[in-house]
Amino acid sequence: MITARMDSQAEALLSIRGLTIALDDRPGTSPVVQNLTFDVREGECVGIVGESGSGKSLSSLALLNMLPKGVHISSGSIIAAGKDLTKANERELRDVRGSLVSMVFQDPGAALNPSRTVGKLLADVLHAHSDLSRESIRERSIAVLNDVGFPDPESRLKSFPFQLSGGLRQRVAIAMALINRPRILVADEPTTSLDVSVQKGILQLIRRRTTEDRIGCVFVSHDLGVIAEVADRVVIMYSGQVVEEGPVANVLTNPRHPYTRGLIASAPNMTSTLANPLRPIPGSLPSVGRTPNGCAFQDRCPDKSKGQCAPQDPSWTTDSKNPSHRWLCHDSSNSRAKASL
Ligand SMILES: Nc1ncnc2c1ncn2[C@@H]1O[C@H](COP(=O)(O)OP(=O)(O)OP(=O)(O)O)[C@@H](O)[C@H]1O
Ligand SMILES: [Mg+2]
Repeated sequence: MITARMDSQAEALLSIRGLTIALDDRPGTSPVVQNLTFDVREGECVGIVGESGSGKSLSSLALLNMLPKGVHISSGSIIAAGKDLTKANERELRDVRGSLVSMVFQDPGAALNPSRTVGKLLADVLHAHSDLSRESIRERSIAVLNDVGFPDPESRLKSFPFQLSGGLRQRVAIAMALINRPRILVADEPTTSLDVSVQKGILQLIRRRTTEDRIGCVFVSHDLGVIAEVADRVVIMYSGQVVEEGPVANVLTNPRHPYTRGLIASAPNMTSTLANPLRPIPGSLPSVGRTPNGCAFQDRCPDKSKGQCAPQDPSWTTDSKNPSHRWLCHDSSNSRAKASL
């Protein structure tokens, strides 16, 4: 399932430090993403997981400086190949998008222009970054379609997106993201709209391309089971903040933050059986801009009585046996291994 390949010596391809995203029209309210900090190394896939509204999409869009109207980066840095993307101008960002950092979106149908054939969609992306001949474009397109497991690519270059299944459309979207050989791939819920067997194929494809092409991958999902299939490390987000992070195997077998334990207990493909049904986390996320002082999870935490959850902010605790596993909780008993979920 998981190939943990933490190579702490490898240089980070992507370094996010203190990234904070605020609402434009509500100064003084809590940020929608706060102090996001993590690295992605060569050949490594980092999963970002959290409930709906926890800030996953805004965090991933910020990596390409593509935030929607209404929010802005208020502080922090995003260093990719030595460049701080938060300081890049529009022209520099156009060069970066698709070549240094590429994105795959959730809905393959919506992401592909319906009036362009597969061949033209791929050629458009290649043209944006290079001046190749028609023949080279065709060769590169067929090669990248082969890489993403697209059957019979030569004869499908003339197909329109509506002539393809959801799984094949998502393979075209991934081929478009990879064709200029980016160093970093950001995938925001790329398999959510696909059925389980097609999803598995796409996860294997992203895993294989990450390892073989030595790219850095950021993979966003609300589903811990999906993250367990594809990622080496996981960042758990709650209400715009990271509350736990570490190698996937450690976090899933020895979760320390009560929110992570709640996510595992409520993940359909991880723990549920007839005898041990899903246990959804009671309550809901704080409203936008209204994250409470102290621990963001305090109102829903089953362990609230054990810690001083407010008003002080919690501090990070690091696993003494595995310093890359850390969590943000006031409850000191969480620093011991939990025997059961
Ligand atoms: N353009 C915007 N203006 C104001 N608030 C926004 C904007 N976009 C998102 N938000 C708010 O920011 C929070 C985080 O949104 P985001 O889309 O990143 O969540 P998410 O974790 O990706 O959720 P989902 O799993 O549903 O995709 C949400 O509360 C959302 O309502
Ligand atoms: Mg989202």
